[in-house]
Amino acid sequence: MSTQNQQLIDNYGRRVDYIRLSVTDRCDFRCVYCMTENMTFLPRNQVLSLEELNQVALAFTELGVDKIRVTGGEPMVRNNIMSLMNSLGSLPGLKELLLTTNGAQLDKYAPLLKQAGVNRINISIDSLIPDRFRRISRVGKLEKVIEGIDAAIAAGFDRIRLNAVIMKGYNDDEVLDLVKFSLDKGVDIAFIEEMPLGQVSDHRREDTLCTNDWVKQVIEEQFTLVPTPSKTAGPSKYWQVSGQSSRIGFISPVSHNFCADCNRVRVTVEGRLLLCLGNEHSVDLREVLRDPDRNFEDLKQVIVEAMNLKPERHYFYDSDHEQPVRLMNMTGG
Ligand code: 5AD
Ligand code: SF4
Repeated sequence: MSTQNQQLIDNYGRRVDYIRLSVTDRCDFRCVYCMTENMTFLPRNQVLSLEELNQVALAFTELGVDKIRVTGGEPMVRNNIMSLMNSLGSLPGLKELLLTTNGAQLDKYAPLLKQAGVNRINISIDSLIPDRFRRISRVGKLEKVIEGIDAAIAAGFDRIRLNAVIMKGYNDDEVLDLVKFSLDKGVDIAFIEEMPLGQVSDHRREDTLCTNDWVKQVIEEQFTLVPTPSKTAGPSKYWQVSGQSSRIGFISPVSHNFCADCNRVRVTVEGRLLLCLGNEHSVDLREVLRDPDRNFEDLKQVIVEAMNLKPERHYFYDSDHEQPVRLMNMTGG
């Protein structure tokens, strides 16, 4: 059957119109919730080439996907990343090109990303205290990230969102400072609950988990939050401080299951199509891309059929269900 005009619909009636494409498993940071201290990364032949990544993106856009988020690892450490960003930016049918980054190289890349057609950027920042920022990212420099945030603001993206993972004992006393920082810069901020993706080495996640209900309570001690009418598709719920343009989002995969509205899938840099962040179900697209007997139409067909494997939901921290063994850098944030 031809895939002409076909859309991606799973067995629960959810339409997939958004992909998160990981372009590298590598990163110049080693955040404690994402990686272990000594990581080994994938050898080059296991990683999709830029051309293969573009083929995958093209296949999805021909299947009705109109939003692509480029993730990693850290996307900006991939060699020649700008040539891929430029080609993704000109894919027919794409309405939004998004990027998640640690911000460390944005001072250099922000204007080029804007030119390539990137609409929105998410930048991770978990602390505003230099030593602590380094403790959490193990190697990152806070100053560089703040320069990156300023460069992104100057480049004029539609929206910039800061991402913060709040963890007991690491940065749970910085919630208000992070909110004030984002209000001050006029950008959005989202608080993300730490997800149990793979085993990390510095802490037991059960011990450090801060739920977003708690984070929100802390914010409300100082600010009045007004719910925003705009219900964006996806897991974040946004609030506003009256009189301020910044939105404050809560992404609560642990405490509030939002799977019923899921509209996305992920592609790892090995070309594994992951149907769900919290489950191991996947389909190998690399094998199809590299098989001389299969063509682009076959790739699309495999993607269409993969939708039948999309699980209904995730079960984070539920001991009756197996937890993912993949770390976030292998998942695509
Ligand atoms: N749980 C929650 N968030 C995580 N991130 C990376 N690993 C985890 C995890 N285990 C965050 C990064 C980035 C976003 C895409 O995901 O900080 O901001
Ligand atoms: Fe790198 Fe992002 Fe993982 Fe931190 S969370 S190590 S910045 S990929």
